[in-house]
Amino acid sequence: MFKVIFFLFVSMYLVHAKHEEYEGYTLYAVTVQEPAQVEQLMEIVERYNLDIWSYVNLETEGLILVAPDLKQVFEDEISAIGITYRIDTDNIKEKLDLEDVLMAEAHKRSNASRSDRFGLSFDVIHRWAVVDRYLVDVANRYPSVARVVNGGRSVEGRDIRYLRLSSDNFASRTKPVIIIQCLLHAREWVTLPVALWAIQELVINVTDRDLIRDIDWIILPIANPDGYEYSHTRTRMWRKNRRTGQSPSSCIGVDLNRNFDFVWGTDSSNRPCSDTFHGPRPFSEPESVVTRNIINEHRSRISLFLDVHSFGSLILFSFGNRQLPPHALVLNRVGVLMAERIDAVKWPQNRNYRVGNSAQVLYTASGECADYAQVAIGNGLAYTYELPAHRNLNSINGFLVDPAFIRQAGFETWEGIKAAARYVVQNRL
Ligand SMILES: *[C@@H]1O[C@H](CO)[C@@H](O)[C@H](O)[C@H]1NC(C)=O
Ligand SMILES: *[C@@H]1O[C@H](CO)[C@@H](O)[C@H](O)[C@H]1NC(C)=O
Ligand SMILES: [Zn+2]
Repeated sequence: MFKVIFFLFVSMYLVHAKHEEYEGYTLYAVTVQEPAQVEQLMEIVERYNLDIWSYVNLETEGLILVAPDLKQVFEDEISAIGITYRIDTDNIKEKLDLEDVLMAEAHKRSNASRSDRFGLSFDVIHRWAVVDRYLVDVANRYPSVARVVNGGRSVEGRDIRYLRLSSDNFASRTKPVIIIQCLLHAREWVTLPVALWAIQELVINVTDRDLIRDIDWIILPIANPDGYEYSHTRTRMWRKNRRTGQSPSSCIGVDLNRNFDFVWGTDSSNRPCSDTFHGPRPFSEPESVVTRNIINEHRSRISLFLDVHSFGSLILFSFGNRQLPPHALVLNRVGVLMAERIDAVKWPQNRNYRVGNSAQVLYTASGECADYAQVAIGNGLAYTYELPAHRNLNSINGFLVDPAFIRQAGFETWEGIKAAARYVVQNRL
């Protein structure tokens, strides 16, 4: 009896402890009138180690998450430099709890309606172990088109597997290769269905035969498995990998999307506590090495490289230091093509996609994955996607996922990817 009571107590404590660290955290929406204010704001963000959900510029308001003990000083400091704000979400913990409730309900419905069809459902966001198992199952079940490759191990020892999809096991020397990578940033859960949708369509449903006949595909659904799992089990807003042994030792993780070898370390943080810490050197992290190896192995044939993030409804091309690649006009044209296809089928309450150079549309940054890929693949097309932040009636927003949007996120993004895929085939890029 004592044991039972003790056990109940412990499990109740665990339930209640979830998201406790976010109690009283407030999400501020900020508006600037002039570029100088952006830089001043970024100094404040860096000084207090604040969590930027979405960058501010003259056209769009930014979203910044602030701890309860910093709210007063944050409000005072930004007011002093003339930045106006409104409170988007007073206590973000309530939204995190709500996401859990909605996801648990979706799990129940999904389990109840489970059919015998092979494939992962688009009702919920699946965990790493489920996805990892699925990649192996797909390869076993469809050996004529799918091969699973173990690209290496994460810091904590998880396998980083990806699928190679091809009608001739990559024997062709001329077919274009397309790479889709998701979850380089841990908390960007809504990107996972994009990878799973592509697998489902190319291997299982095969509604568009030309895509698997004319193109070789590499799909890496979870590029940062440790961070991803940590964002499920502990800290929902985790972004980096789980590198330890840094100084101070309480500061864990490297921002993998600042760790690639393109003007590395020039426009990112050298403080391990920062969310944009670039690591001790380029490719210091096993997770970025896996992606680098994929790019280098296939660089001569890669026509399209997609690094999928959230959020913002953006399609971005190189470079993060404001320079443009020689074929920037082509990058812009195909970016717009993808955006138009998605906008044609998107949910009306979501904003239209915007397309542009990443530094101009968002912010300057160094060591980014898509920039490294763009240099490696020359005339090929590399993009960073920022998927929509769908806001539902419960105002689940930003990095939080409304389960009702999962299927749509997979579907609509694939419409854009298909358009670019056919473009590179027709134009022999
Ligand atoms: C749904 O099924 C999964 C996998 O079989 C299981 O882990 C989960 O606990 C189930 N969820 C509910 C709410 O029944
Ligand atoms: C695959 O086919 C099923 C059954 O026709 C359909 O419901 C689903 O939307 C299709 N696509 C994906 C990605 O599941
Ligand atoms: Zn990201």
